[in-house]
Amino acid sequence: MPSIPFSEFKQRRAQLLAQLSDNCVVVMSAAKEVTRSRDTEYAFRQNSDFHYLTGFPEPDAWLILEKIDGVTSSTLVCRVKDKTAEIWQGRRIGKDLAKQQYLFDSTASLDELVTVLKDKLNNKDVLYWAQGDDKSTDKQIFKLLAELRASVRSGKIAPEQQIDVRPLIHEMRLFKSVNEIAVMRQAGEISAAAHKRAMLFSAAQVKSGKDVTEYQLEAEIHHHFAMNKARYPAYGTIVGGGDNACILHYTENKDEINPDDLVLIDAGCELEGYAADITRTFPVSGKFSPEQKAIYQLVLNTQQAVFDAIKPGARLKDLTDLSVEVITQGLIELGILQGELNTLIDQNAHRAFYMHGLSHWLGLDVHDVGLYNIDGEARPLKEGMVFTVEPGIYIDAESQCDPKWHGIGVRIEDNVVITQNGFENLTHPVPKTIEEIEGLMA
Ligand code: GLY
Ligand code: MN
Ligand code: MN
Repeated sequence: MPSIPFSEFKQRRAQLLAQLSDNCVVVMSAAKEVTRSRDTEYAFRQNSDFHYLTGFPEPDAWLILEKIDGVTSSTLVCRVKDKTAEIWQGRRIGKDLAKQQYLFDSTASLDELVTVLKDKLNNKDVLYWAQGDDKSTDKQIFKLLAELRASVRSGKIAPEQQIDVRPLIHEMRLFKSVNEIAVMRQAGEISAAAHKRAMLFSAAQVKSGKDVTEYQLEAEIHHHFAMNKARYPAYGTIVGGGDNACILHYTENKDEINPDDLVLIDAGCELEGYAADITRTFPVSGKFSPEQKAIYQLVLNTQQAVFDAIKPGARLKDLTDLSVEVITQGLIELGILQGELNTLIDQNAHRAFYMHGLSHWLGLDVHDVGLYNIDGEARPLKEGMVFTVEPGIYIDAESQCDPKWHGIGVRIEDNVVITQNGFENLTHPVPKTIEEIEGLMA
């Protein structure tokens, strides 16, 4: 299992600090535990920015970075070891192991937080933080700043300037390291195999005369994730049969699927915090109808046309425009749209059937951070950027076209990383052509 060394997290802190003005402090808080219902919490997920800079997996932790006269230092404030709390709630890393393993210059315990924060904020010119991310963190920082301002007669000075630290971290997160790409490749492989498992399960159920339900396919996928050391999906798994495939963020996954329908599965695991984001669409029975085949092939051709254009220097906006052109032309050829290609493109006629974007950045968040435009212009793709390629066509029961197309929703989504001379498809091991899918499911 690939994994990212603690030295890389330390190096990220150094890379961030190198970009900051002198005599500054950075303050970031970990994610909070969230109540699901009385006495129960959702599974804890670390804040992605906090994780990126620390790798530290606990709630109730704070990262404080400083630069004074060019000299930098890092401090982690975290929960103390506590036998009773650990018996009831779970193990804690504690400040000694945190310092040693996670490579902070110093660590402090949570009960020292106010004193430590106040000391670190005092007498700095600039405070870098993520105001608005978390209400209780905002409250704490504002309170401490007010206290410092009120203590001016005893020589305390609150930072005059406050700067949002997120854009700097997000630009760093946009470019994945070799280690990050290795983890994402593995997340892609696990997720691809999970989709394959769902295809095989579906074909076997139909063959033995059994029902196929959306939540059973979801269970097959999640089972495969967990059995491969990726315990959680990276986002709410979407399993939509027939018309349900035309609801873009359908996560109810509760219906029985007609064996003659297509099913759209959008599912990716989270591995070491990194997301895979794969969609495959296949016939529940394993055999496409002529209409399903036509729409599927058009979406596949669109994805292939985009793949043919991906290289360093290409722009997501141009790739999106290309996908719109191929889909519009294909819908004309199938008689679903009527008119002249360029007129229909100008009218955004595709939006009735292809209503989402082609792509988004992918990383610690499924819709990952990072700017898409710089100075109002689409930015060129560069080595290390990871994104999805996900064209789709959705024709629900109320769509304006021959009813023979109704109930067909198709999306094909893969994850790619830009390399020095081209790109690598991180999610290629899952069947995609009509022949491959029918062959696997036969
Ligand atoms: N799974 C969400 C998306 O494809 O954007
Ligand atoms: Mn996606
Ligand atoms: Mn997706």
